[in-house]
Amino acid sequence: MIHGPNLNLLGAREPEIYGTTTLAEINEELLRRGRARGASVVAFQSNSEGEIIDQIHAARGSAKAIVINPGAYGHTSLAIRDAIAAAGVPTIEVHLSNVYRREPFRHRSLVAGACAGQICGFGAASYYLALDAALGLLSKD
Ligand code: DQA
Repeated sequence: MIHGPNLNLLGAREPEIYGTTTLAEINEELLRRGRARGASVVAFQSNSEGEIIDQIHAARGSAKAIVINPGAYGHTSLAIRDAIAAAGVPTIEVHLSNVYRREPFRHRSLVAGACAGQICGFGAASYYLALDAALGLLSKD
């Protein structure tokens, strides 16, 4: 689980858009759901593009799937897209909000083309659906 910029402020940040669940609560629930299904979930958050790229590289060989909420970098970062493509690890893009109902500059995802799929608009549940999707992808292998 890779959480991008400003997601450390979840719970307090624009709660009318992102809800009141904190990142710690989301991670706890992801770990719990993973454990219940025999998967170990590792959660990472950074506000820095380079650190996110390093984490994607580190997932090569150590993770079977990546779930990433790239935050605003999803709309801007070709470097994160390239890192996902280079890592060769099945990746799911997540957003809490429905970015397609928001400002036009959020309608474009630079990372989506390197991902297996995208889930957005379900608040914290977007992450839980993405975990489900990731485990579903792996069980097909
Ligand atoms: C977000 C949507 C992005 O447009 C925004 O920049 C974020 C959060 C979401 O989870 O809804 O930081 O990724």
